[in-house]
Amino acid sequence: MKLWINKQNLQGNIQVPGDKSISHRSIMFGALANGTTTITHFLRADDCLGTLAAFQKLGVKIEDDGEKVKVHGKGFAGLEAPDGPIDVGNSGTTIRLLMGILTGARIPAVLFGDSSIARRPMNRVMLPLKEMGASIAGKDDSEFAPLTIRDNGKLQAITYDMPVASAQVKSAIILAGLQAEGETVIHELEKTRDHTEQMIRQFGGTIQTEGKTIRVTGNQTLTGQTITVPGDISSAAFFLAAGLLAENSEIHLENVGINPTRTGILDVIEQMGGSVEQANPSTHQGEPSADLIVRTSELHGTEISGSLIPRLIDEIPVIALLATQAEGTTVIKDAAELKVKETNRIDAVAAELTKLGARIEPTEDGLIIHGKTALHGANVTSYGDHRIGMMLQIAALLVTSGEVELDKAEAVSVSYPAFFADLEKLIHQ
Ligand code: S3P
Repeated sequence: MKLWINKQNLQGNIQVPGDKSISHRSIMFGALANGTTTITHFLRADDCLGTLAAFQKLGVKIEDDGEKVKVHGKGFAGLEAPDGPIDVGNSGTTIRLLMGILTGARIPAVLFGDSSIARRPMNRVMLPLKEMGASIAGKDDSEFAPLTIRDNGKLQAITYDMPVASAQVKSAIILAGLQAEGETVIHELEKTRDHTEQMIRQFGGTIQTEGKTIRVTGNQTLTGQTITVPGDISSAAFFLAAGLLAENSEIHLENVGINPTRTGILDVIEQMGGSVEQANPSTHQGEPSADLIVRTSELHGTEISGSLIPRLIDEIPVIALLATQAEGTTVIKDAAELKVKETNRIDAVAAELTKLGARIEPTEDGLIIHGKTALHGANVTSYGDHRIGMMLQIAALLVTSGEVELDKAEAVSVSYPAFFADLEKLIHQ
């Protein structure tokens, strides 16, 4: 598809779609709780609709009237064996959290997804679950999907030192731990997004966190809740970048989630000299949100590493774009996890931004970006990765010569089906 190029003066309000991580979890905890959970501002995008369909297949009644989603949970014991394999599409969160839920609930199932899912590492979840007694196997004895889960009997609690910083792995172990015998203790490598922990408390469960240590016991009962999903800061990130980089721009992003485990991008923008104001703060079900107001800013290079990385892991493609327009050099390191996302995001970001004229080097665990560079037209691809596709459209707004043709643009529907329509609202010719 041909992208918009050479746009300044971006002005207007956007209500970014619901948070993807929280939307997945609201269906999952709604299904595992007793009673009805009502969800407002649920993300109706491929990934979360896949989770919704998966739980319907597991015997949970879920209704969507276009306004609210209602999940009629029957408790941990209420899931039923599916009548065929479960398709998780492109969603790492769906497959990994389901592994914890299904092994804990002793539900035999086969989980499969698209070609990206079939390449993503699953041992990170399989190994701790197997330590708990789970029977779970990848294709031809590998760690890769399709995954086959068999009834393994009741799981036993473990104490686990996580070798990677991953909220998906942490959440899968917690979900198994909620159904295991004894107390499960997890030591995180770095603190990652804590939506699972917040939601357990919200649903009346108990989970203890102290620094990077998490403790959860089995045999708990959860109760259905009313959930309002905040806007997704990972989706807002594309408009934050557009507002900072396009000349003479001011964009208001309404009700964006600002859970501190997710706001690394706001810290980095400040570090780079950018302007983002917060207004109208509120908190729903333990999750803080606020309006974000972004204005055109002069940026300078920075270093991004260490414990900041998990707090902005999904925003690195668009942060790399910011760095191409910042004075000086930006170094991103400790981010090797980017290689095992929907695509290898280190290689994808470097290759596609280079085509547009950026000076950007991939490294073993990140990127080195030299700014500030003018961007020009080229044929680029999302590699089927939603965040690469959206980043490239924001990059194209800065292109002043030639055209930008994006292959696999439809990938944006994984997390933000209305992305191009929302961007169009900001463009004033
Ligand atoms: C997510 C965790 C992160 C993130 C993904 C969503 C979650 O993945 O990149 O988009 O909802 O738990 P990892 O756990 O692999 O870091």
